[in-house]
Amino acid sequence: MSTVSVSAPAQPRKKVTTLTFRQKKERGEPISMLTAYDYPTALSMDAAGVDAILVGDSLGMVVLGYANTIPVTMEEMLHHCRAVSRGARSALLIGDMPFMSYQADVNEAVRNAGRFLKESGMDAVKLEGGRERAEAVRAIVGAGIPVMGHLGLTPQSVNQLGGFRPQGKTASAAKKLLEDALLLEEAGAFSLVLESVPARLAEHVSKQLSIPTIGIGAGVGCDGQVLVTHDLLGLFDRFTPKFVKKYADFHGEMQRAFAEYLSDVQSRQFPGAEHSVEMPDEEWESFIRSTK
Ligand code: KIV
Repeated sequence: MSTVSVSAPAQPRKKVTTLTFRQKKERGEPISMLTAYDYPTALSMDAAGVDAILVGDSLGMVVLGYANTIPVTMEEMLHHCRAVSRGARSALLIGDMPFMSYQADVNEAVRNAGRFLKESGMDAVKLEGGRERAEAVRAIVGAGIPVMGHLGLTPQSVNQLGGFRPQGKTASAAKKLLEDALLLEEAGAFSLVLESVPARLAEHVSKQLSIPTIGIGAGVGCDGQVLVTHDLLGLFDRFTPKFVKKYADFHGEMQRAFAEYLSDVQSRQFPGAEHSVEMPDEEWESFIRSTK
């Protein structure tokens, strides 16, 4: 009898839903979220077991090379959401609504939110802002579309905030942030991103809400964490916020690989015989004879 044990194939992971988010908060289990903008990244993130993938409008900065997120369009977002949805089977997929796709008009906000689900395979949308967005959140949720809020440092308001700077550092700003969080919960948001706010404020807000908070630069007291993947991988070298933990140096590794390729091409080390296509000798000889 064979002593080799054959392990059963890994069970496909169950689809993560907004209910999973709520249950994880109730059980005190941290929720993991990362950004992705393309198929291969979504594929490996999903296989790693990340709970949620945000197709963030950070796309504009880390992939498209804009100075900030303001120029990002609906078409750019939908294009990248489609690629991510082809790569991820189990993670909850959240599409970030770009600047001016939801601010001007509530009906337009609902229609644009709907496009993320209908045209690009997302499960939910995210939008930035507090009390001034409560009506849009209520209307989008009313259309059956789960909404994640985003408070604190809201990059689409960078011009109003005077730069990418931490928020909620005074007693009055902290109070406003807590009120906004409660209003978004009341409007039906299933979760909230808290970006670049003091850790004790984020923990306090998280305890006041029944919906989970996902922190970025907001300390360990949030119900989950998110990072921009290009920051985590060291792939975006323009600047790295203080709150990022770099898990790799892909920018350096890419430069090393490109320089090695260049050197191999220049020295004719590449391509080697193993990278080349051959043809049978008799066919070659027949070809040469035919050219004489
Ligand atoms: O656009 C984005 O990637 C985000 C995260 C930083 C939360 O909004």
